Amino acid sequence: MEKFNVCIVGGGSTYTLGFLKSFVRLKEEFPIKKLVLFDIDGDRQRPIGEYGKILFKERFPELDFSYTTDPAEAYPEMDFIFMQMRAGGLPMRRKDEHIPLSMGKIGQETVGAGGMAYGLRSCVDMIEAVHQIREYSPNAWILNYSNPAAIVAEALRREFPDDQRILNICDQPENIIRSVSRLLNVDWNSLDPVYFGLNHYGWFTHIYDKKTGEDLLPLIRKTVHEKGFLPQDAEQRDKSWLDTYGFVQTMMEDFPDYIPNTYDGYYLYPEYKCSHLNPEYTRADEVIDGREKRVFAEAAEVIKEGKVGDRFHAISDAHAEMMIKVAEAIAFNTNQRFIVIVKNDGAIANLQNDAMVEVVAELGINGPRPMRVGTIPQFYYGLLAQQVSCEKLIVDAYYEHSYQKALEAFTLNRLINDAKKARELLDALVEANKGQWPELK
Ligand code: G6P
Ligand code: MN
Repeated sequence: MEKFNVCIVGGGSTYTLGFLKSFVRLKEEFPIKKLVLFDIDGDRQRPIGEYGKILFKERFPELDFSYTTDPAEAYPEMDFIFMQMRAGGLPMRRKDEHIPLSMGKIGQETVGAGGMAYGLRSCVDMIEAVHQIREYSPNAWILNYSNPAAIVAEALRREFPDDQRILNICDQPENIIRSVSRLLNVDWNSLDPVYFGLNHYGWFTHIYDKKTGEDLLPLIRKTVHEKGFLPQDAEQRDKSWLDTYGFVQTMMEDFPDYIPNTYDGYYLYPEYKCSHLNPEYTRADEVIDGREKRVFAEAAEVIKEGKVGDRFHAISDAHAEMMIKVAEAIAFNTNQRFIVIVKNDGAIANLQNDAMVEVVAELGINGPRPMRVGTIPQFYYGLLAQQVSCEKLIVDAYYEHSYQKALEAFTLNRLINDAKKARELLDALVEANKGQWPELK
């Protein structure tokens, strides 16, 4: 059987340990012969890389594993590149969240002012990284889940218009399907969703039972109304994530047509959300004090003991499993369905063709074949058309180094929605992102 070479860009991420374990767990389904971790921050990546050496010696000794900060070592002869870089790292995520919140607007990783700030940084770093990758591995599949995926996808579409092997994808729609399966107490693989939107801004219009074809949406609506909504892996989640999933209930009371993506809450209730976020302690702080500490503590212990042992079984990682399944679908041309980010081209009939949208697609060796959802209702169209414009303007600001375009994007964003406030936020974020944004004039 064919075996694949894989590189993870952002090897020092808090998600990498989950990937290392998942590559072992899934080695029959998705067989790899070489795995390289790449990161520009060698100190951060080192413990994760050393953990990998110990893990693979125990459970996957035939794997050729290494880690590096040198693109010339990382990128040649790759079949799949998993992109999980965080431009500016967690310290900048903190600023993306803290600065807007301290000014009375939502600060969040991927939406609102913080998301746009992160978007400009990611345009710079992602475009550079993909050019570098293409020098060494012109045909590798680039599976991108670096954030903010909506803005990154738009930037990569413009920079690499003929490149058919860049796929942008997010795990949140699948996380919600898994959560629905917990609610209904069924296997999540038995659910067949229909979904439309932009990344981190979408809705499930139907969730069918794969076997019977029954649309489970009425049952889901009723059950959410009675029991609320929890993530599938609620026991592993921090409080803020439980609140975020719980809020699906409120959204479905007000807008009962569809099942929302959890991120829709920020767009639909910006004032309420803002008043419930703590500007002194945001999700970034929770990650820095929680997941980041846990991951690096686990790495330190394993390095000290020289073995992974039972820690291998500690937690399963839905995110890593999904991404490896994506690679498997492409590698073996399975045409399995995933919710992916693609150029619209009529998938949402009444939205512009060159929007990057998130819909269900069959995924195989030639990439995604998206499924149409038809014309979406005026309300949803209005929300999405505004946000598409906002995302496009941020990418314009990147290419044109244009302060004006950035100001327009900030003004248009539903989480800001005021030109004076937009300018204040933009000026504060220009300052905080010196050297990491293109210089806006
Ligand atoms: C979901 C989203 C990702 C996002 C992550 C943040 O998985 O799909 O795009 O980065 O949540 O999670 P965190 O635990 O870091 O706040
Ligand atoms: Mn996402």
